[in-house]
Amino acid sequence: MRVAFLDEGMTEDKFKPDQGSLDRWAEVDRYFSEQLSLSDPVLDAAMAANKAAELPAIDVAPNQGKLLQLLARMVGARRILEIGTLGGYSTIWLARALPAGGRLITLEFSPKHAEIARANIARAGLSDRIEIRIGAALDTLPKLQTEIAEPFDLIFIDADKPNNSEYLRWAIKLSRPGTLIIIDNVVRDGAVIDADSADQDVQGARHLFELLANEPLLSSTAVQTVGVKGYDGFAFALVTAKT
Ligand code: SAH
Ligand code: DHB
Ligand code: MG
Repeated sequence: MRVAFLDEGMTEDKFKPDQGSLDRWAEVDRYFSEQLSLSDPVLDAAMAANKAAELPAIDVAPNQGKLLQLLARMVGARRILEIGTLGGYSTIWLARALPAGGRLITLEFSPKHAEIARANIARAGLSDRIEIRIGAALDTLPKLQTEIAEPFDLIFIDADKPNNSEYLRWAIKLSRPGTLIIIDNVVRDGAVIDADSADQDVQGARHLFELLANEPLLSSTAVQTVGVKGYDGFAFALVTAKT
């Protein structure tokens, strides 16, 4: 059925993958997790705590968390910024990539989410290198700019999607040539190609791509992903030059 009008936050039925595909993709993700030992008691405990606290189950998947960690190691990240903490699942993956003396700052709007994340991070033994800043990221980011002595080496953007292009602008300001910027959830069941979408998350992704296309300081790509999180994707931007 083709609906004439869509409520904010809804994607059109035509974009929804069928259940058979979703099941298969999830099974393959579970196969990867088992074969590659992508979880451990600390990560499992974080997921269990998030579930017990009824946080939305929108954390990155284990294989995606490992991808973030490998990328952080590849760029030799010593300073990492995350926008959107939730229960700190992706935070733990990223922070484990830090060398001794490395630091991660993660921004979270919800005090409840931050509290759960704090406990998960403590259980992971990472409290000494992770700082959670509570508040709307667009309020926190200007303060951060005045405080930090050095730019971030890797920035993971995974908060409210309508603000993605604003977050990318801030990420550029807080970066140096060589900084890797990663943005989650830029495909949304393929709805990203629907220019007329009423979904503000989709429009957020489209504005992000406009900025990526027009920003001469960035060299960018994007990949579609399927798995336990359904059909979505990441954008990647390497800061190549600075004015
Ligand atoms: N990165 C996490 C998932 C983040 S979910 C993981 O993969 O484990 C998105 C988070 O962004 C939610 O916790 C939500 O509360 C937070 N968020 C939403 N709007 C925000 C804002 N304006 N500023 C900061 N965080 C925000
Ligand atoms: C949503 C947000 C996420 O960060 C994610 O990875 C998946 C879904 C959401 O708001 O629907
Ligand atoms: Mg996400």
